[in-house]
Order: sequence, then C-alpha cells, then structure tokens
Amino acid sequence: MAKKIRTVFFCSSCGYESAKWLGQCPACKEWNTMVEAPAPAKTAGASSAAMSAGHSGIRRKPVPLSAVEETGEERFSTGFSELDRVLGGGVVAGSMVLLGGDPGIGKSTILLQAARNMAASGIETIYISGEESLRQIKMRGKRIGEISDRLRFLCETDLDAVTATLQEEKPRLAIIDSIQTMYSAQVQASPGSITQIREATGVLLRLAKETGITFFLVGHVTKDGNVAGPRVLEHMVDAVLYFEGDRYASYRVLRSVKNRFGSTNEIGIFEMRADGLSEVLNPSEFLLSGRPHDVGGSVVTCSMEGTRPLLLEVQALVCRTSYGYPKRQSTGTDFNRVSLLMAVIEKRLGVPMSQFDAYINLAGGIRQTEPALDLGIVMAILSSYRNVPADDHMIVFGEVGLSGEVRAVSVAQMRVQEAAKMGFTTCVLPRSNMRRLQIPEGMRLIPVSSLAELVDIL
Ligand code: TYD
Ligand code: MG
Repeated sequence: MAKKIRTVFFCSSCGYESAKWLGQCPACKEWNTMVEAPAPAKTAGASSAAMSAGHSGIRRKPVPLSAVEETGEERFSTGFSELDRVLGGGVVAGSMVLLGGDPGIGKSTILLQAARNMAASGIETIYISGEESLRQIKMRGKRIGEISDRLRFLCETDLDAVTATLQEEKPRLAIIDSIQTMYSAQVQASPGSITQIREATGVLLRLAKETGITFFLVGHVTKDGNVAGPRVLEHMVDAVLYFEGDRYASYRVLRSVKNRFGSTNEIGIFEMRADGLSEVLNPSEFLLSGRPHDVGGSVVTCSMEGTRPLLLEVQALVCRTSYGYPKRQSTGTDFNRVSLLMAVIEKRLGVPMSQFDAYINLAGGIRQTEPALDLGIVMAILSSYRNVPADDHMIVFGEVGLSGEVRAVSVAQMRVQEAAKMGFTTCVLPRSNMRRLQIPEGMRLIPVSSLAELVDIL
C-alpha cells in the first residue's frame, strides 16, 4: 500500500494549526484562511517518551540568575540615529529584525542605506535579494551614493544556497529581501506559502544563533497590514519594525511593535527624497508644516512618542447632519475615544453634538492615541462648531474625564518646553500639572480644570 502523506491545515493569517479544514480560524476568527500543507516531519524519539523513560541525551541543570555571567550586548549603529533609536540604541549583534511594510514604501531602500552605512564603518555585509536583479540594485545604489566593497550582493531564492553562502562567507550582517521569496526544496510547498516562510525563518534563526550573524528580514504585508504569513514569524524574531506612511506623501514612519532589546513606543520619521531616505530630526516642525492659519477647527496639541514630545495638529470639521444619524469619522486617532469626547461635550457643555456630523483628523498621517490629546480634540471640535479660530500660537493638552474634568498628564514639563522651542507662546494645560512646573521664558500658561473653562479661552 502506498504511504499516505500526512497533511495538516494552517491558518494563513495567524499560523494556527489544525488536523482538519475549518471555515473560520478558531484562533484569529478570520474566514477562509485555512490552507493545507504537508505535516512537519516528526523527529525520532519523541520528547515525551524520553521524559517518561526518565533519561535524555543531554541534561542541563537549572541555574540561578546570579550565576549567569553578565556581558553587555554588542550593538552597532546603522548610521541612522532614527533607526538606531527605534531599535533601542543600535542593532544588537546576532539578533534578527523583521521589517514589514507596504510595497514601494522604501523597505529595500532603507536597508540598503543602513547596510551601506554599516559596511562603511567596517562591518562585512551581504545583501541577499530574491526580488530584484543585480542591475536593479545597482540602479538604486547609484541614487543613494558611494557603496563600499564591504557590502556585497547576491541574488538568490534557494534557501540552501543562501545558508551555504552565509556559512562560508561568515559576514557580520545579512539582509534578506524578502523572506517570502526564500524557497527550500526540502519542504513540499510552493514559494511564499506559510510552510516555506516558517521553514526559511527557522533555518535562518538557527544560523543566526550558531554563527552570530545579524539578520534583517524584509516581510511583505497583507492587505490588513500584518506581515504576510503566519504570526509565528513575528514570535520567532527579536524585533518587528513596520515602515508606514502614505505612498504618495514623502514622509515615512518607522515603528517598532516588538523589541526584545528596547522599548516599543519609539518612532522614527524619514523623508523619501530623490537620493534615498533621509531622517527628519525635528518631527514637530515637519508635522506642523502647512498648518492653516485663522480657520476654525485647527488646534495644536502635544503627544509623547516614547521619550520624545511631538507637536501635532488636530483638525476637526463639525457640520449639521443631513441624515437622522450623525456621521463620525476619525483619522489617526481612536474612534471610540473621539465618540466618548463628543458625548462628554454634549452632556457637560450642552452642545447638541448629536445633530452634527464630526470628522477628526491628525494632520501629517501620524497615528496617536494618547489620552493627553483629549483636550486638543475637544478644543478643535468646539472651535469648528463655533467657527472661531483658536490662537495660532497656542498649544492645548490634557486628559478629559467623563464628568468633564481635565486630568493631569505625564511629563508636562517636556511638552511645555517643546512648545516653547517651536515658538508657541500660550499653553493650555491641566491645572494639576501646574505644580513644580518651570515656566519657559515668554510662555503664558493657562491652567484649566474643567471643560467649561476651556470654552472661555476660545
Ligand atoms: P523600495 O525601497 O523599492 O520599496 P519596497 O522595498 O518597500 O517595496 O522603494 C521604492 C520607492 O521609493 C519607489 O517608488 C521609488 C522611491 N525612491 C525614491 O523616491 N528615491 C530614491 O532614492 C529611491 C531609491 C527610491
Ligand atoms: Mg523591495
């Protein structure tokens, strides 16, 4: 009798494994995502058997942490201070970083530029491309400038050939563009399938741990913005970065969603130019450029992104609804939070919000959900509703509670200083933040403790 190949089903969105086909994935609740793939081969001597027999080949003793030698992790700079900061202070040697993002956003460009910088500082690097030919890479390279010979290129999609080359060449850094194009002949599945992606990442991860090569992997994203392929990919690597932004605008935001070696709330802002990406070192200035003057509904607020204050413009458009049900939309901030703030405005200030449509937008394509934006959002809504422009040189921040009270926010000092640095002269802030605040020269502070006081300012 012919031996039947055992197959299992994987969810193509989260990697959930099941013995039979299912219409809906029980783990991530997506429909029609289960795909069939050959079952991973069982290794001889299942671990449970070895355990019950009471013996196994190698037995390691558990150790207390005090017995573990401390070695500061080695990091190297990518030559981009923005990228270094998002990574938590440079790339950790031997780590694996996944970079996801929409096609054409600039993943290959940023990695080529980082590789070029690192090669220039003496780090042997191999850039493996499964997507572009050497000629195409050369064309891109020409735009970004001189490239050192320490950076070498390989066009390859065969995983075995890639690992063989890396084992032989032993570079310090390897870039895989992209993980979806890597293909192993030992796995019976088509290129780009979950099984292939899992295999490729697993093989490269083992190689990274064995040889200490640092890896950057490029990952494509699906239409809902996750790295294509199973979620397990994100679990396997040390850091996951997303490169986002509007393809049609020139700025790009680099965000970390997972980082074993640093914080995940830092962002880096880049601008795509004719000669590659360049860092935006003063994001507040960048985000406020093009701000309209003397129109109702535009208010500047301050949000913290990691350790950096960011000034941003909240725009609101409030107009009488022509349907029975008011339309609400928020871009860049939490929709539910905006709805809640509108309910607070209606109840505490008596503004008939339920008869008005409201559209809220954080200008510049940035996404922020910090409660400190509340007061700025409320101010923008009131300003648009009454058609009264807010003071051009004023920033507004504070958290709004359900009874219309204005609550303290963290690091008010830094926010006020950033505002002063950017030329603002008035700052509306929670009264409880006033204690121990050093007032920068030329700055007028207006403390508020309830929404009613905010109305008087307008
Ligand atoms: P790319 O890095 O190829 O995107 P990805 O790898 O994420 O798919 O970026 C390609 C886009 O960037 C393309 O639309 C051209 C543009 N670009 C510039 O504007 N300036 C440049 O110097 C380079 C290299 C690309
Ligand atoms: Mg690319």
